Amino acid sequence: MKHHDVIIIGAGAAGLMCASTAGYRGRNVLVLDNAKQAGKKILISGGGRCNFTNQKVEPHNFLCGNSHFVKSALARYRSQDFIELVERHGINYHERDHGQLFCDDSAKEIVTMLMTECDWAGATVQLRTEIMSVAKNAQGQFEVQTSNGEFSCDSLVIATGGLSMPKLGASPYGYKLAEQFGLKVLPTTAGLVPFTWHSEQKARFEPLSGIAVPSTITAEDGTQFSEALLFTHRGLSGPAILQISNYWQAGQAISINLLPNESAKEKIETALANHPKQSLRNTVSQWLPKRLVETLFDATDLDKALNQLGHGERDQIAKDLNEWSIVMNGTEGYRTAEVTLGGVDTNELSSKTMEAKSVTGLYFIGEVMDVSGWLGGFNFQWAWSSGVAAGMAV
Ligand code: FDA
Repeated sequence: MKHHDVIIIGAGAAGLMCASTAGYRGRNVLVLDNAKQAGKKILISGGGRCNFTNQKVEPHNFLCGNSHFVKSALARYRSQDFIELVERHGINYHERDHGQLFCDDSAKEIVTMLMTECDWAGATVQLRTEIMSVAKNAQGQFEVQTSNGEFSCDSLVIATGGLSMPKLGASPYGYKLAEQFGLKVLPTTAGLVPFTWHSEQKARFEPLSGIAVPSTITAEDGTQFSEALLFTHRGLSGPAILQISNYWQAGQAISINLLPNESAKEKIETALANHPKQSLRNTVSQWLPKRLVETLFDATDLDKALNQLGHGERDQIAKDLNEWSIVMNGTEGYRTAEVTLGGVDTNELSSKTMEAKSVTGLYFIGEVMDVSGWLGGFNFQWAWSSGVAAGMAV
């Protein structure tokens, strides 16, 4: 049985970051992954350009049962530290809305950078390796049986990610291992995920597929995001929807403001004063795509001139524009979700090192734990920060 100081299961974002950090500290590191390729999620992220971090990362950008948990790791390895790493590797990048940073060319550059760092740090990455069993022996070492041999280690790091995108190899392995060692795992659900229509909504809204509009969307708990809303064949998507999905529970309504930062009531009253004979259709179509207007409102109302609409009707129209309340059927689930909400309970882990409080030498990093970020590079930043935190401790 070959012994290593550190074994990391999962050669994704967090695992590779942890491996190089520990390797540079002189630790003998082995990374095991059952996939054929390291960093598969990184490769497809950000539309192939990897939104690798965000200029402004703060604890409130994360969902976690214990809201203080993320603070220490984020403060010790900041987005600026990762940006400097990217710059040292000569990777060109650009900033998009809301401080999101993307590679100019390809997400492959980030994987190459992480693998190069592992190589320089002397960490070995072994792919196509199934984990058969993990046990802790009487000497306190972990014994890992795999399809490619048996290994032992002093520190075992679980970096197997969440459940989103099973076709990329996502697995519940990390949760099962946590449970094997008696750690609590909080229920998981799909996050950063599009919503689907109820069947009767689908018949009405499917023709709007492809329309994108600015919006502010509010969840029942009051959380709000102002970003684009996209109508799809199957439901609602776009950044605003993905963001709000993290704060949505089945059966809850979302409130959509189709005229963010504007009072629809004031706009309608101004239009009424200036163009009383203009139809509602022509009025609202100046603000929103005509197809959307024709789907949202009753045809008889749309044909009326503004001065034919009563007070109550105008108020209702304004409400539909500023506070369109809709109950969606559900989400697309893990098939298309970008992250998994829930996971290994952070109360079980040290926020400084990511080590399990009750199992010496066992660490959890990245998405496998109950930490999920907003859309915008926050999930990778958590992978980098938690990976470094464990890498400094193992
Ligand atoms: P990650 O999933 O990266 O790695 C887990 C590794 O464990 C994988 O290599 C897997 O093969 C391995 N593994 C799993 N089970 C195993 C087992 N039983 N045995 C051995 N190995 C096993 N975030 C962001 O900040 N910006 C972005 O642009 C995007 N874009 C994006 C697009 C899409 C389509 C998705 C699905 C996700 C994103 N994300 C994102 C989220 C981001 O990809 C995610 O949060 C991180 O990859 C999580 O990093 P981890 O290292 O924790 O898991």
